[in-house]
Amino acid sequence: MKRRIGIMTGGGDAPGLNAVIRAFVKRGVGQLGWEVIGIEDSLNGLLDTPHRLQCLTMRSCQGLLHRGGTILGTTNRGNPFEYPMPDGSVANRADEIAQAFRDEGLEGLVGIGGDGTQKISLRLMEDCGIPVVGVPKTIDNDLSATDFTFGFQSAVDCATDALDRLHTTAESHERVMFLEVMGRDAGHIALHAGIAGGADIILLPEIPYDPQRLADKVKRRQKIGRLFTIVMVAEGAVPLALAELSAEERKQRLSEAGGAAHVAMESMRPISDAEMRVCVLGHLQRGGGPVPFDRLLATRFGVGAVDLVEQDRWGEMVRLKNGVIDGVPIKDAIAVYRLVDTEGQLVSAARAVGIELGA
Ligand code: F6P
Repeated sequence: MKRRIGIMTGGGDAPGLNAVIRAFVKRGVGQLGWEVIGIEDSLNGLLDTPHRLQCLTMRSCQGLLHRGGTILGTTNRGNPFEYPMPDGSVANRADEIAQAFRDEGLEGLVGIGGDGTQKISLRLMEDCGIPVVGVPKTIDNDLSATDFTFGFQSAVDCATDALDRLHTTAESHERVMFLEVMGRDAGHIALHAGIAGGADIILLPEIPYDPQRLADKVKRRQKIGRLFTIVMVAEGAVPLALAELSAEERKQRLSEAGGAAHVAMESMRPISDAEMRVCVLGHLQRGGGPVPFDRLLATRFGVGAVDLVEQDRWGEMVRLKNGVIDGVPIKDAIAVYRLVDTEGQLVSAARAVGIELGA
């Protein structure tokens, strides 16, 4: 009997999702003769009547390698265990998913997503008996089990390009320019792109900053004739004054004040006479096609996910470890969240080339 496998994309999108789908279908359908069924809008396609599904064929995968977004659609409001209902209440709809899964004759589910999606997948397997295989995705690169998630390098590329552009306008106007990039909890994009783009100051969620150190850095640069300064700010970076707050409270305070870059700029205003501007890069980091590194990684992950299904290694997530693609139990993969290692080589390299990290 033909194997019939469901595939879905969950959480925020990332460049490379389509490349994973393409590789999974090319190997699974094209070479192994499986049926691959795409579920639309994360798992929501199974909750609607009629179910919203796409039978993925070799033809439907044409042109997908370099295409951004996801042809299946995605949502970060689709947790079936805490489903947001139209009346504002929250319902557990996991049993409906399990029923729909059986009704569609699906044998297993491949969940392409970040930390949240992997947690949901594992619970679907443990609580509802749905066999799952995971594929790690997030531009934030915060899944510790894999060296890289696809989408991260594309986001770093985008943020680095933005820094290059900010340099010329900052220099022309002799301004301090703050660039805010994604990274609510982990500052990998800010750190990587900040170093690659030659930022003078990098602010990370992992290192609460002292505004005086930022003002001092600007002054030191002015003294040597560098009349502009580029500050890279991760979305979750906070000044020391907010460091003791819980993660939720921090987010709340940042959002009320217009975001991390605005908070950083305002924290400097009383102690610096520099002209300052903020630029928030936002969803541009997630849009557009994947860079070659992510196309390659997404393709390897798609093929790796087929291997896991073929070997009935349900409950595992494909990952890249020391250059090799293999599988890891999802429960291990989600056990440790990857923050920037504040004592690590990358942070040391940043300090060694004179980048100010605020503490
Ligand atoms: O994928 C995670 C992330 O990139 C975070 O860094 C960011 O805060 C979030 O997505 C924003 O996503 P959305 O606006 O889609 O909720």
